[in-house]
Amino acid sequence: MKQVYGVIGDPISHSLSPVMQEAAFKYCHLDAAYHAFHVPKQYLEQAVQGMRGLGVKGLNVTLPHKVEIMNFLDEIDPLAEKIGAVNTIVQEDGKLVGYNTDGEGYMQSLQPISEKTIASSRVLIIGAGGAAKGIAITMASYGVKELVITNRTLSKAESLAKDCGKYTSSAAMPIGMAQAKLTEFDIIINTTSIGMTPDIDTMPLSLEMLGKNVIVSDLIYTPFQTRFLLEAEKKGAKILNGLDMFVNQGALSFKYWTGQEAPREIMKDVVMKELGG
Ligand code: ATR
Repeated sequence: MKQVYGVIGDPISHSLSPVMQEAAFKYCHLDAAYHAFHVPKQYLEQAVQGMRGLGVKGLNVTLPHKVEIMNFLDEIDPLAEKIGAVNTIVQEDGKLVGYNTDGEGYMQSLQPISEKTIASSRVLIIGAGGAAKGIAITMASYGVKELVITNRTLSKAESLAKDCGKYTSSAAMPIGMAQAKLTEFDIIINTTSIGMTPDIDTMPLSLEMLGKNVIVSDLIYTPFQTRFLLEAEKKGAKILNGLDMFVNQGALSFKYWTGQEAPREIMKDVVMKELGG
């Protein structure tokens, strides 16, 4: 019987998960379908109960439901519990289990380009919202050497730095101060939407003080290379956009659902094609 999977969010029509996951199912000859469900906040609980009732095998969860959804699940994986957000649900024997593959997906995209170990890396995260939290807590749990969080609203950076402080050395900093201390970081990650289409001329902070042998990464992939990444590359940094993280988080969800390794190259190709090549 065909297994049903999907993604829930609001809005959801822009999601690239359906084309990516369906390509993976097809490539692996799995009899499965993946649908984008538009679920407004007030219907979240019913959507989860519907998942049980209809036997939907697995879901991805996107904005704005990643935190709220945790109230309706039977079990939460320890990393998702630490992050405080779920982006993947697996239904097994009527039990709903929540995972978070965002941070792990980011770590996997970093590995091929990073020369330093995570334990010797000093990391600056720009932003303190949901995306920042997944990455920050995962990196902290992996024992990154030092984590600094900077954000327009400093109190949110302070709160996230405090959470990360349970696992590693962590601090919050105003944007101006982080900008002036850029040489102190090995990896700089923009998790905000600054620079995303259509505001492609904006940057989350100035890269004037950028050091040598730095990785600069941006979770954005529309445009494919933000101004932030283009300027970093001009200054000799290795750059990483958000596409690999997106593919890797989806590949990890696929593995939780099917028990199989996901065909990452196939998934990446189809997403690239959707983005215009
Ligand atoms: P996500 O889940 O994608 O991270 P979010 O939780 O709404 O989304 O977080 C958005 C992040 O981008 C926040 O850190 C936000 O800063 P504030 O906490 O000050 O709101 C940051 N952000 C978004 N737009 C911004 C802008 N124009 N200037 C500065 N920071 C911005």
